[in-house]
Amino acid sequence: THGGISKKNAHPHRVGNVVLAHNGIVENYDELKHSVGNTHEFSSDTDSEVIAVLLHKAYTKTKSPDQAIRDVAKQITGRFAIVVMFDGIPGFFAARRGSPIIIGKAKEATYVASDIPAFLEYTQTVNYIDDNEMVYVTPSNTRVTNLITGRKVQKRDITVSWEPEEIEKGSWPHFMIKEIFDQKETILEAIHHNNKTIQSFVKKLETAKGIYLIACGTAHKVAMVAEYLFADIAHIKINVVPAAEMPSFEKFVHKNTALLAISQSGETADVLEILERGKKRGARILSITNVPSSSIARLSDAHFPINAGAEKAVASTKAATSQMALLLVCAYTASKKHTSIKTLTDIGRGVIWNTTSAINDMLNPRYAKHIEKIAKKISRHQNLFIIGRGTLYPIALEAAIKIQEVSYIHAQGFAAGELKHGPIALIEKGTPCVVLGDDPETIANAIELQSRGGFIIGIAPTQARVVDLWIRVPDCNSAQAIATVIPIQLLSYYLARARKLDPDMPRNLAKSVTVK
Ligand code: F6R
Repeated sequence: THGGISKKNAHPHRVGNVVLAHNGIVENYDELKHSVGNTHEFSSDTDSEVIAVLLHKAYTKTKSPDQAIRDVAKQITGRFAIVVMFDGIPGFFAARRGSPIIIGKAKEATYVASDIPAFLEYTQTVNYIDDNEMVYVTPSNTRVTNLITGRKVQKRDITVSWEPEEIEKGSWPHFMIKEIFDQKETILEAIHHNNKTIQSFVKKLETAKGIYLIACGTAHKVAMVAEYLFADIAHIKINVVPAAEMPSFEKFVHKNTALLAISQSGETADVLEILERGKKRGARILSITNVPSSSIARLSDAHFPINAGAEKAVASTKAATSQMALLLVCAYTASKKHTSIKTLTDIGRGVIWNTTSAINDMLNPRYAKHIEKIAKKISRHQNLFIIGRGTLYPIALEAAIKIQEVSYIHAQGFAAGELKHGPIALIEKGTPCVVLGDDPETIANAIELQSRGGFIIGIAPTQARVVDLWIRVPDCNSAQAIATVIPIQLLSYYLARARKLDPDMPRNLAKSVTVK
């Protein structure tokens, strides 16, 4: 968050007798730096170094690592997860407030990480460290205390269900492509909840005084798809707000307002903060994440795991389709069209079963090869536009995110009907335009694009005459967004490959965005 990517800004930071690594953000960094005065010459541009300076001072004074960490934690405003070593003290200390810390316990070693996949190769036994807790770790012992009171905290050993193989690429060249193909199985896993659980979750939404879906990035586009699904299927209006924009609407969050967070990692700081504040206002906190032990899941009154298995690639793929599948079943469950709720949940399940089977037919090496060829053809372009309507409008926005983040092509998504209100001015001869869907209005928009010189790539169940290149997707009715996003993911992946980029390592991005 502070300073460029350079050796001097890389963690850990050593100051005197203290070595520190920090994840998070010190919001009162300037103030703290000022309080240190000229007693220390800062050698990095990071906010983290000031924590090391304060710890060094406190430890020199108190000679107690525990006391030093507690004293310094009191002074920090903002989110932090820190790991600290003190000269002459064996092992290391870690503490958290707002950012994740997880302990992995193996026979001959103990691990501290911010995410389970970091040590899954060595152990599946974990202790979750909660906010305002500190842990002292030696190879043979783990001692957890409360960061404020200093009191001992008892932790339960938990065995996580993720298998080490899940975080291996196996024979795949990248995690991104592996995870795209994982969707043959993961979509069904998402709805692996019994009807009662789904119905009670939906009831908490339906009976709320206002429903807000809160998410960021790809998960926010999933939430937008859900907005359409709930409107179309259940005739319920939900509000979808990107977490960072929610402060403007928090005045509408009261007792019994439902805040439903959608998040793969369950650790996204912007989302977490809105939920924490919502909880204080008496809102019902619901969540759908891929990590049942995450901060968001544990803060929630009701939580749905999507069971997609570890998602390692920075670009989210399988989590998004799983989230959409679960939300679709929730929308059917909330539908008022029939009297028997049980039947409705099962109708939703039926849609997902059919969609999964159609995706299984679609997603094969020949299909991927076809998309790879298209990617190679358009990979030299600097601009690319995507249009869609209804649930495919958020998918057009998602397509833009996916293409931008892994291929660095300037991609933009639009609601198809908005084109004529401005964006169409961007189209030049040969500009690649991806058209999602084959309904008559969207095809009319594709013709407008083509007549301005646009090169039309159609992603739809049928091949319209206007289309220069066609990527077929099955007709999946209300689950069309789920089927359509998959070729988009493949196109993004192959665009990155064609441009000689590593799709698993997009610049400037992190998998879990645990800072604001
Ligand atoms: C894009 C992507 C990000 C995440 C966003 C939210 O491919 O992965 O836009 O969707 O950072 O992350 P989660 O879902 O973990 O809250």
